[in-house]
Amino acid sequence: MYLRYVFVVIAFCFALAVSAAAADEYLSPALQTNEVILTPKPGPAPRINGPEVYGARPGHPFLYRIPTQGERPIKFSAKGLPRGLHLNSHTGIITGFTPKAGEYTVTLRAKNKYGKDSRSFKIASGETLALTPPMGWNDWYAHYDRITDAKMRQAADILVSSGMADVGYQYVDIDDCWMNCRRNNDPMQFGPFRDQNGNILPNKHFPDMKALTDYIHAKGLKAGIYTSPGPRTCGGFAGSYGHEAQDARQFANWGFDLLKYDWCSYSHEVTNPPSLADMKRPYELMGSLLKQQNRDILMNLCQYGMGHVWEWGAEVGGQSWRTAGDLGNSLDHIFQVALNNSEHAAWQKPGAWNDPDYIQIGWVGIARKYGQPRKFPFTPTEEYSFMSLWCLMGSPLFYSADLTRLDDFTLNVLCNPEVIAIDQDPLGKGARVIFVGDNQFLMVKDLENGGHALGLCNATESPVDMTANWSACGLSDAQHVRDLWRELDLGDYTGSFSARVPPHGVILVRLGAVK
Ligand code: GLA
Repeated sequence: MYLRYVFVVIAFCFALAVSAAAADEYLSPALQTNEVILTPKPGPAPRINGPEVYGARPGHPFLYRIPTQGERPIKFSAKGLPRGLHLNSHTGIITGFTPKAGEYTVTLRAKNKYGKDSRSFKIASGETLALTPPMGWNDWYAHYDRITDAKMRQAADILVSSGMADVGYQYVDIDDCWMNCRRNNDPMQFGPFRDQNGNILPNKHFPDMKALTDYIHAKGLKAGIYTSPGPRTCGGFAGSYGHEAQDARQFANWGFDLLKYDWCSYSHEVTNPPSLADMKRPYELMGSLLKQQNRDILMNLCQYGMGHVWEWGAEVGGQSWRTAGDLGNSLDHIFQVALNNSEHAAWQKPGAWNDPDYIQIGWVGIARKYGQPRKFPFTPTEEYSFMSLWCLMGSPLFYSADLTRLDDFTLNVLCNPEVIAIDQDPLGKGARVIFVGDNQFLMVKDLENGGHALGLCNATESPVDMTANWSACGLSDAQHVRDLWRELDLGDYTGSFSARVPPHGVILVRLGAVK
């Protein structure tokens, strides 16, 4: 069995390094173009993906596009769909109104000329939303203050055409800069903050917000928006200070499904440093206002981890909270970001997620410094590591980079359904970290079915032989191991599992106790 794994690891290293003779050449710039696609291409037969459980509030509008890979046309059906919900058999989009509180177990089915698939899906009607980490795309690290209605529509189109929506990416989020500001090079963003009745005004790049969310919803996707509790956003655009109730109502009327609420200039409204009560106040207010709306709106707290937000983010009505500052500034330390974020794993549960910030692979950029997005110099190994770490943590999976430049390699990293299933596991645990050497650690995530996900994480600059001892991981002595990126069973391992891990690499496997 060991020999079998040695073979797989050799193949892995070979695939990543292709003709590189020495392991320490993995990081050479030339190799950054050796983008080896590890995951088998999805076949033409239907494969239903997405979370196993989905929370929604009773009586509110319901919208769920069944994430399904496979060649269209696909015919969808559902057994046990509660009254009030309707499935469009061509698009696989479920709409209607969420039934009264309770749990409804539905069997989703998809069929085309190549085959069929079915899957159990639990609709949990109640107060808790985001029972699994929210997934989607946010425009910030692609468009910054150049965001427009047309770019948002294009993003929704690409989420569907690229297949991202077929593995569960769902929210299409506008970040900062959709409002007006006082001074800007772009005259389209210059204008009054509010109308004479105090209603927030989008800038001229957003002629009709309701039409935009209608467009996104028609694809079965959801729409997110951004503001600040302060008078100004971080980009200097109009914030919600003093208009919170009006803005919450407006976001609901426009049809938004998520609000990112970014602290920014709120610092000027409170003592320096702010007290814990000061930190909570704006989020308590917005959290309760969003709950009063007639639709489900998630709240993402963005205040960079102040006041141990993971301890109270859920209590004030948030479904996720950033645990640190902007990842755009520390992309070269993704392993450290993951370690820091994992320290708060105990606070995470269904409906309450630590957010280490967006997935930034492919074409990303730094707004003001570089203007247009650029290809971020991650090695292929590091792109895989990024996604592996985020899924082991059970983080919200928001891609924030230029969708128009997505290539097959990055798409493959973003769209492996078995890897995503680790993130979306209904138990909602974040992985625990076990150090096994300097800058070498294991991440072990408990899964709902009693199994585990394991990451062997090498944050060093050299390849390392790493071993996960089952006893040190708190696991029973014989484990079946599956390589998730390759979707390949490696066999049963007694006592431990070893792998050669490339520099800045993560070997991601799923484990199941051998009976
Ligand atoms: C802050 C947030 C970022 C982004 C910008 C927008 O820096 O942390 O994620 O929303 O503001 O100005």
